[in-house]
Amino acid sequence: MNNLLKGKKGIIFGALNDKSIAWQTAIKCYEQGAEFVLTNAPIAMRLGEINNLAAACGNAQIIPCDVSKNEDMENLIAKSMEILGGKVDFILHSVGMSLNIRKGKDYTDLDYKFMHDTLDISAMSFHRLMQTVYKMDAINEWGSIVALTYIGAQKVFPDYSEMGDAKSLLESFARGFGYRLGKERSVRVNTISQSPTKTTAGSGVKGFGDFYDYAEALSPLGNASAEDCANYSVLMFSDLSRKVTMQNLFHDGGFSNTGFSYDVFKMMDKKSE
Ligand SMILES: NC(=O)c1ccc[n+]([C@@H]2O[C@H](COP(=O)([O-])OP(=O)(O)OC[C@H]3O[C@@H](n4cnc5c(N)ncnc54)[C@H](O)[C@@H]3O)[C@@H](O)[C@H]2O)c1
Repeated sequence: MNNLLKGKKGIIFGALNDKSIAWQTAIKCYEQGAEFVLTNAPIAMRLGEINNLAAACGNAQIIPCDVSKNEDMENLIAKSMEILGGKVDFILHSVGMSLNIRKGKDYTDLDYKFMHDTLDISAMSFHRLMQTVYKMDAINEWGSIVALTYIGAQKVFPDYSEMGDAKSLLESFARGFGYRLGKERSVRVNTISQSPTKTTAGSGVKGFGDFYDYAEALSPLGNASAEDCANYSVLMFSDLSRKVTMQNLFHDGGFSNTGFSYDVFKMMDKKSE
């Protein structure tokens, strides 16, 4: 199916390299006829890979934005409307970072300055984005906003540490702002709770390989890939999902509703051999 997003304009946050969920989403959105602006933190852009993505997406414009800065967010939204010639129809927030995890700090010994940055970049940035869009009246009626999250918001995965708390807050913002944007502007806001995915952010969590394998073995459909997630985001940006809002949508091959699977035992046996 093509042209699901024909005529739609958007902003895509978080494409670092071709493993990124946002990268795969940009490719799919472009294939479906969308026009969009790409953005990432200035530091991530220096790596230069995003230029290749922009070239593959009809020479999409790239605007730097550190999501923890109000002025960067305002500049991004203003410039995006200029470039795209008006309000946008969809936004993907695909951003996460934890310094405590990066530095290997245990949950019982967290540095609060780092935690502040984690919550700011990974969760408050979603509120900041929606508040800026709201104040600048930057999204069309029946627009769609999606942020990526993980089941660590509902259940404890010890090594996911403070990111579980950040994701709980992120999901709560989707409800809080989803209500207001829905009521006043007919805009929907949802989070997609994605399987463990082999990306730079994902692989940075200690023991990632083990819980990737565990989720693969427990989920009846197996883990959802970045490309699968990109397809789901396209659906959420399209007119086929107009009345879905304020939801945390599990996109995880059935992991979240499965209690037991013999495949987990088989996997453990193999690991202990
Ligand atoms: N990989 C997984 O296993 C997994 C599972 C569920 C949800 N997610 C979520 O998916 C989203 C995308 O992550 P990914 O797995 O594609 O990894 P990724 O490393 O490719 O993407 C993370 C992005 O966040 C950006 N970022 C970090 N700090 C920023 C800042 N201050 N300003 C702007 N951008 C900043 C990075 O530059 C990067 O592009 C994140 O929200 C992540 O938590 C990932």
